[in-house]
Amino acid sequence: MEEIALQMKGITKEFPGVRALDNVTFSVRKGEIHALCGENGAGKSTLMKILSGVYPHGTYEGQIVVNGKDVEFKSIKESQDAGISIIYQELALVGEMSVAENLFLNHDLMRKKVINWNKIYVESQKWLDHIGLNIDPQTKVNALSVGKQQLIEIAKALTKKTDVLILDEPTAALTESDVDILMKLLHELREQGVTCIYISHKLGEVMALADTVTILRDGKTISTDPIEELSEEKIVTKMVGRELTELFPYEVHPISDENILEVKNYSAFDEKGKKITDDVSFVLKKGEILGFSGLMGAGRSELFINLFGGLKGKTTGTVLIDGKETTIRKPADAIQSGLAYVSEDRKRYGLVLGMDITKNTTLAALNKVMKMNVIDAAVEVQRAEEVTRKMKLKAPNLEVQVGKLSGGNQQKVVLSKWLLNNPKVLILDEPTRGIDVGAKYEIYKIINELVHEGVGIVIISSELPEVLGMSDRVLVMADGTITGEYSREEATQEKIMVSATGGKKR
Ligand SMILES: Nc1ncnc2c1ncn2[C@@H]1O[C@H](COP(=O)(O)OP(=O)(O)OP(=O)(O)O)[C@@H](O)[C@H]1O
Ligand SMILES: [Mg+2]
Repeated sequence: MEEIALQMKGITKEFPGVRALDNVTFSVRKGEIHALCGENGAGKSTLMKILSGVYPHGTYEGQIVVNGKDVEFKSIKESQDAGISIIYQELALVGEMSVAENLFLNHDLMRKKVINWNKIYVESQKWLDHIGLNIDPQTKVNALSVGKQQLIEIAKALTKKTDVLILDEPTAALTESDVDILMKLLHELREQGVTCIYISHKLGEVMALADTVTILRDGKTISTDPIEELSEEKIVTKMVGRELTELFPYEVHPISDENILEVKNYSAFDEKGKKITDDVSFVLKKGEILGFSGLMGAGRSELFINLFGGLKGKTTGTVLIDGKETTIRKPADAIQSGLAYVSEDRKRYGLVLGMDITKNTTLAALNKVMKMNVIDAAVEVQRAEEVTRKMKLKAPNLEVQVGKLSGGNQQKVVLSKWLLNNPKVLILDEPTRGIDVGAKYEIYKIINELVHEGVGIVIISSELPEVLGMSDRVLVMADGTITGEYSREEATQEKIMVSATGGKKR
């Protein structure tokens, strides 16, 4: 394993107003799993985009050596030809096309005059089996959850000649069972001699998977160490530059007797009339943090997107907000009645990437910055500054387009936007996905502040430690219905998993 697969030396990359990378050194041995860690905006994705030719030679300073030879990639294609495949933090599949078409897009099999679809489907099935995903290759990618799409991206990378596989937060959108599939896959690939560079904010995974860890902070290399010399705590300390003593700053707090949200016998159907939510009843108290746990596809997001007026199908049952029966037909109704929903899929629902940070944060709260029906620019900027400072957003200034921020900082903008709206009920769907440890801590602190003000909070999360660490009460869903309910004291990982996998209806 001592042979060097690749080296990046003295890499410096500047964007207008930001030095994203400052004289970075990065060296990866052949056949190892090398984790790249650092806070949001540390420069991880940028470094990998340089390695994979997204930022071509000439747009950065420094030197790249692959298999002992200097390389100057001028395009993604050139790095691919050298055996380097990258899977981006942002999904890059074509939703309207089938899984098979996506897998072999730009592949020789697709470049034939007469395409042999049979062969493509058979090949696709092989790759799907290889990654342990049980779906039909003719399924449209749109119909798959974010997590499944992520696995398809990995299969797609593997269809090419790959010596070095770069995964930029591959598990951010995956549930525990899919993470297990991926871990197994990566171990197999290591056996086969594939070198893997792995970016993740989930340090438990890093500890379980990596052979070596490099840490970046503010665009600089802090260290490269073998995993044996590290622990989660040591990695965190190096990442944030100080010690972080607790991960979940849960505070015992008063919970009111009043219901802020009450859902009774609520069922929902998709546009074709198929039931997606089945007779769900629950209450949320003022000042309560209610965790929603369950496996991917359990129907948690669908339930809340529907309650928020985001889907078109029929619904039955009753919804009371702050004691008043409420009919919500579209998201504007929901916002009007005091609901806020922070989506798990920030690209699709959360942000306008071409707009600047200020405009994005005030988008859902225009009434807070309007004066006589005109947006008061000064107030708008002031509110945006307050809330983004609270979130510790890392950006050169608030006029930067949101599309130019690092993944985790984009998530902070989404949260800022909804916090500005002063909601009565705040629904957070995977709120800390892709967010670094320091920022996670800040989000939990903000949740604490909000419940003290009487806001009711729903946390939908696939991270069991997060659900257990922050919730006053936990509900578990499976197959569109509630299958378990536990108080903070009762809840354990084991009980939740039992309810999530075929537990009985409550
Ligand atoms: N296209 C761009 N234009 C301008 N600035 C950019 C661009 N891409 C990245 N940056 C800036 O470069 C810095 C490093 O960003 P990068 O995306 O590499 O961070 P990261 O370590 O991947 O963070 P995260 O964990 O949030 O994904 C950030 O300050 C970011 O705002
Ligand atoms: Mg990134």
